[in-house]
Amino acid sequence: MASISSIPSHIKAWVYSEYGVIEKILKYDPNVAIPAIKDDQVLIKVVAAALNPVDYKRAFGYFKNIDSALPIVPGYDVAGVVVRVGNEVRKFKVGDEVYGDINEHAVNNPKSIGTLAEYTVAEEKVLAHKPSNLSFIEAAAIPLAIITAYQGLEKVGFSAGKSILVLGGAGGVGTFVIQIAKHVFDASKVAATASTAKLDLLRNLGADLPIDYTKENFEELSEKFDVVYDTVGESEKALKAIKEGGKVVTIAPPATPPANLFVLTSDGAVLEKLQPHLESGKVKAVLDPMSPFPFSHTVEAFTYLKTNRAIGKVIVPGLDAAGVVVSEVRKFKVGDEVHGDIVDIAVNNPNTIGSLAEYSPAEEKLLAHKPSNLSFAEAARLPAAILTAYQALERVDLQPLLVLLYWNC
Ligand SMILES: NC(=O)c1ccc[n+]([C@@H]2O[C@H](COP(=O)([O-])OP(=O)(O)OC[C@H]3O[C@@H](n4cnc5c(N)ncnc54)[C@H](OP(=O)(O)O)[C@@H]3O)[C@@H](O)[C@H]2O)c1
Repeated sequence: MASISSIPSHIKAWVYSEYGVIEKILKYDPNVAIPAIKDDQVLIKVVAAALNPVDYKRAFGYFKNIDSALPIVPGYDVAGVVVRVGNEVRKFKVGDEVYGDINEHAVNNPKSIGTLAEYTVAEEKVLAHKPSNLSFIEAAAIPLAIITAYQGLEKVGFSAGKSILVLGGAGGVGTFVIQIAKHVFDASKVAATASTAKLDLLRNLGADLPIDYTKENFEELSEKFDVVYDTVGESEKALKAIKEGGKVVTIAPPATPPANLFVLTSDGAVLEKLQPHLESGKVKAVLDPMSPFPFSHTVEAFTYLKTNRAIGKVIVPGLDAAGVVVSEVRKFKVGDEVHGDIVDIAVNNPNTIGSLAEYSPAEEKLLAHKPSNLSFAEAARLPAAILTAYQALERVDLQPLLVLLYWNC
């Protein structure tokens, strides 16, 4: 079993020990035993996690008869760095940047240690290498929602030239259904529903016909569709919006037959299949403007998700997400991966909040984008040391011996 040496035996995580309203039961626990890995699994240092409605539904006890035993750390989506690999793992090695939905089956015995933790565990088959053009925050926003979107379209045999109506086009799943139907499957027409303020978003994602559900009833439109993809729980009305021979797929109960209710199966192969579209930027993660929520504000993040008004995905960076920008300036945008020595002049009034904290402020002039071939751990080791070395070499007019001697003192 390959592993890095500095992995703790106990980790920080959000945990609940009884079922109920998630804001009431979810507690921060700084001392959770780190999960052991099986031969086909990897241990992942979490850099970012995303929330999904299934997290608060599961916490409420909707699936308690088929759930894993309490206590439970919630969280399905992760982007992070592999720090330990099981003996049968072939696809990943220590240091690889990965992402995925860690639970192959969403409601049938999902893992008791989820992704709202410092470290989490997943089988290699549910993971994929993180596309290098995506930040960890963007990557965490993708797995569960994109796999659901893709498998739902496959389920109804969606193909090029067909038309589709997406109910709930602005949500985590809906934003991906629009993009995949349009840009991957080459739909002839994509219609989608949302409230007034979100119609431009639908258009930007590729919807030809945004429908404001606060003003129009989609089931009364004269135009009918080959497929309706229902993310809202409106399958009865959806059946009125299909052409003869058309199909309704729904991911939210109740499902009125012949509408087809299905639950995703997490699968790294789907992420790999969609990777070219993620790398080309044709398909993008939509990040809710209220997020990322700091790890310490996970409860507030759930309260927000539960409003059912979130746009795209709600993200929680991992506890040690040093290097992910969470507040915007000119050179960097939220989600950018950066590194730097955050103190301008090392001994003259250095910052009171340093980098050994959950969050630390830094002037943008002191930061650079993290080279994509470096892990966070590698990138964090560089700034102060490399700047000292380089500036000293500049100062002594390239007399490296002298500099090395000084460095060794
Ligand atoms: N079966 C599965 O495998 C599976 C997988 C993933 C998710 N799900 C389920 O699918 C549902 C959606 O998940 P999600 O992650 O996409 O949720 P989400 O991101 O929380 O959805 C929020 C979005 O829903 C939109 N919305 C709410 N009511 C609407 C309505 N009547 N018409 C149109 N849009 C509406 C909101 O837009 P407005 O503010 O404009 O209303 C908001 O942007 C949840 O019930 C979830 O549990 C099931």
